[in-house]
Amino acid sequence: MTIKLDFSNKVVVVIGGTSGINRGIAELFARQGAKVAVASRTQKKVDETVKVLKDLGADAMGFSADVREPEAIDAGLKNVYQQFGTFDVVVSGAAGNFPAMANGLSWNGFKSVIDIDLRGTFHVMKSSFEHLRKPGACVINISAPQAYVPMKAQVHVCAAKAGVDMITRTLALEWGSSGIRVNSIVPGPIEGTEGMARLAPNDTARKMVTDGVPLGRFGTPDDIGNACLFLASDLGSYITGTILPVDGGWAQTHCGELSDYLGELAEG
Ligand code: NAP
Ligand code: COA
Repeated sequence: MTIKLDFSNKVVVVIGGTSGINRGIAELFARQGAKVAVASRTQKKVDETVKVLKDLGADAMGFSADVREPEAIDAGLKNVYQQFGTFDVVVSGAAGNFPAMANGLSWNGFKSVIDIDLRGTFHVMKSSFEHLRKPGACVINISAPQAYVPMKAQVHVCAAKAGVDMITRTLALEWGSSGIRVNSIVPGPIEGTEGMARLAPNDTARKMVTDGVPLGRFGTPDDIGNACLFLASDLGSYITGTILPVDGGWAQTHCGELSDYLGELAEG
């Protein structure tokens, strides 16, 4: 179920918006009338997504860039600003994940995830600032339950996403006086995504996940998109610095048995 909220003529930028959850978010904003820009590393995925967004009736554009390269993100966002104007909503969701126990994780493996999730989020936020509507813009960082639930084989992700949530909380303080709201959304296990393919790659793990979710099911990209629409709309106008789980209650159970399972998966 998608709630109808009007985003006509609003400019929405979704970084990492070319697949999975973030692409679902971009599509929902497109359906609500927004002008939508997406970015990720792969030009082909950018082109395909822009076509889908245009087919939904939206004014859409995209650029390819790696969030680990601040100059590339800066240039891409400037170009979006020149073509679409002041940003009303920025969603920052590019991320990398794979299960690996700390003792089996190389220096570069840890660094890669920190660079994408944590440093990448900072690059997106910092480069967006000058283009954000003041007052009125809403920034949403896509976090993960690992930010506050320690999970085996996820030390890189736990550290990175905890940092992402602290960026959210700190910039909510710094940018509040400019009328910019900054929040994190924490998706639970979302059906059919790359993230779940990596962390719950078979029926045993999938059952372990749904058994651990109080609402008893996987989430959908629309569940996350609907929460973004709410936060970005006037309905969310007094909400900033919040870490909002949209997870069927999963984190309340410390993500069930998935942690032990991931430890076994990573150690073969
Ligand atoms: P996904 O489909 O792999 O989406 C990741 C997106 O980020 C893609 O568009 C990818 O495109 C882009 N990306 C990856 N590395 C990048 C980089 N270095 N620079 C720029 N773009 C990059 O993953 P997903 O499972 O839907 O996850 C989306 C978000 O939700 C992530 O932040 C994840 O941590 C969070 N999350 C997911 C789940 C879940 O159940 N899936 C649960 C909790 C949180 P390119 O490959 O073209 O770069
Ligand atoms: N187990 C242990 N280490 C791993 C690994 C795994 N499954 N996958 C990658 N690594 C290590 C690599 O070995 C490398 O370290 P090294 O140089 O010491 O060998 C390091 O991580 C970087 O890997 P590389 O493939 O060069 O990085 P990349 O920049 O091309 O890709 C990743 C980044 C690794 C995060 C890749 O999985 C990715 O692009 N992910 C995006 C999609 C995704 O993860 N979606 C889910 C989001 S929740």
